[in-house]
Amino acid sequence: MNPIRPNWPALVAGGLALTLTACGGSAAAPGATSSAGAQKSLEVFSWWTSGSESAALKAMIDGYLKTSPGVNVVNGAVAGGGGGNAQAVLQTRLQGGDPPDIWQTHPGAAIQQYISGNLLADASSVYTGEVKSAIPAAMVEAISAGGKQYGVSAGAHRGNVLWYNKQLLEKAGVTLPGADYPTSTFLADLAKLKAAGVVPLCLGAKDTFATAELFENTLLGSLGADGWKQLTGGGTGWDGEKVKAAAADTAKMLQYADPDAGAMSWDQATKKLASGGCAFESMGDWAYGELVKNGAKEGETFGYTAHPGTGGSFVAVVDTMVMAAGAKNPAEATAFLQAVASKDVQLAFNKEKGSVPLRTDVDVSSLSPYQQQSAKSFAGDAIVQSVVHGEAMTPQFTQALFDAVTQFAQSKNVDAFVQALADAAQS
Ligand code: BGC
Repeated sequence: MNPIRPNWPALVAGGLALTLTACGGSAAAPGATSSAGAQKSLEVFSWWTSGSESAALKAMIDGYLKTSPGVNVVNGAVAGGGGGNAQAVLQTRLQGGDPPDIWQTHPGAAIQQYISGNLLADASSVYTGEVKSAIPAAMVEAISAGGKQYGVSAGAHRGNVLWYNKQLLEKAGVTLPGADYPTSTFLADLAKLKAAGVVPLCLGAKDTFATAELFENTLLGSLGADGWKQLTGGGTGWDGEKVKAAAADTAKMLQYADPDAGAMSWDQATKKLASGGCAFESMGDWAYGELVKNGAKEGETFGYTAHPGTGGSFVAVVDTMVMAAGAKNPAEATAFLQAVASKDVQLAFNKEKGSVPLRTDVDVSSLSPYQQQSAKSFAGDAIVQSVVHGEAMTPQFTQALFDAVTQFAQSKNVDAFVQALADAAQS
C-alpha cells in the first residue's frame, strides 16, 4: 500500500446537520455586521453531540465570541461517536462544493487527505511566536505540509484508557487495577465479574469505532509503542503474530461485552458504567468528560488505568480544527482558529472534554486530577497515533478496519480478520 505517512517524527520515544444557531443561545447577539449591514456568520462542523462534547463545543464557541461578539455561529454538528456519520456528511458537502467554514479533524493522515485535496486554507498566520513555541514541534509538524500549517489543535485525548466502576469491582472481589495491569489479569477479572452477576465490559457497539478502539488498545498492548510505529509505518505486516494475539485477546474480551452493546452508543455505554450497570470500558478519555458530566466522581464512583499492557504509552487523539479553502466567512473562520489557539479557550474546552491542552504553557492546575496526570503522561510517555481516529493510516484503511471489526465481532475468526487488515494495508 501507499499510506499517507503522517510525519510525526519524534513521536515514539521509545445535512443531517443540525443547524442550531448558537450553542446556549450565546451566538445570536446582535451587533456584528458586515459593511453591507448583514449579520456575520460562521459554521462550525463537528461530531460533538454527547453531553460533554456539546459542553466543550459551547466552551470553544463562547471563547471565540468573546473576541468576536455578535457573530451568528451555526452549529453544524452531526451525531455519531468517532465521527463516522459526520465524516460521510462532510465528504458529500466537500464534493458538492459546500464546505463548512470550520470543521473538526485529527492530525496525520486525517488532515493530510484534506491538504492534498487543496480543501484547506493556510492557517500559518495563527502560529505566531507564542503559539508556535507553546505547541510541541511534533504536533505542529503533524498538521503541516510544505512548511505551512493547516489546522489548530485544541487538545490531546488519551485513547488507551481503561475505566472501571469501583463499586462493581469491589462487589466482585476484583482488586482495583494498578498501573501495570496485564491482559491475563484483565481477562481473569472479567470472568470474576461475570461469575458475580455483573456485566463485565461496557461497550457502545452502535458506534463502530468503540469496538475498533477495544482492538486498537489491545493491539498496542501486544506490540508496544515501537512495534506500533513499525506496524503503522509499514515496516511489519498486519498479519503478524502479535496482531493475531491481540485479535485473539479482543475476541476473548468481547465474550464479556454487555449483551445490550449493539443498541448503545459510546456515551450511553459510559453512562451505564457511571450508574453501575457495567464494570469496565476501554475508551478514550472523552469518556472522562462524559462520566463527570453524568455526576460520576473520580476516585469514588470510578477509577481508571492504562488499557492492559499500554502503561507508558499515550495514544494521542488530537482534536484539530481546520478552515475551508474558499470559506464563505474567511475573516470569522481565521478569528475562530486564533481563538482555538488561545490559552483561555484551550483550558475551557479541555476542562469539559476530558482531554489536555495542546499548548504546554497552559496552567492545568485547575483541571481534574485525572487530567493533570494525563498532561504528565502526554509530556513524558511514548506518544503514538491512532488508527481508529484516522491519524496513523489512510482513511481507506481505517474504513477497512471498521468493516473488518464489525465482521470479527460476530465471527471471532482471527485469521480472516488479520487477513482483511493485511489486504487493506496492501491496497
Ligand atoms: C474525537 C473526540 C470525540 C470522540 C467520540 C474522537 O474522534 O477526537 O473529540 O469525543 O471521537 O465522539
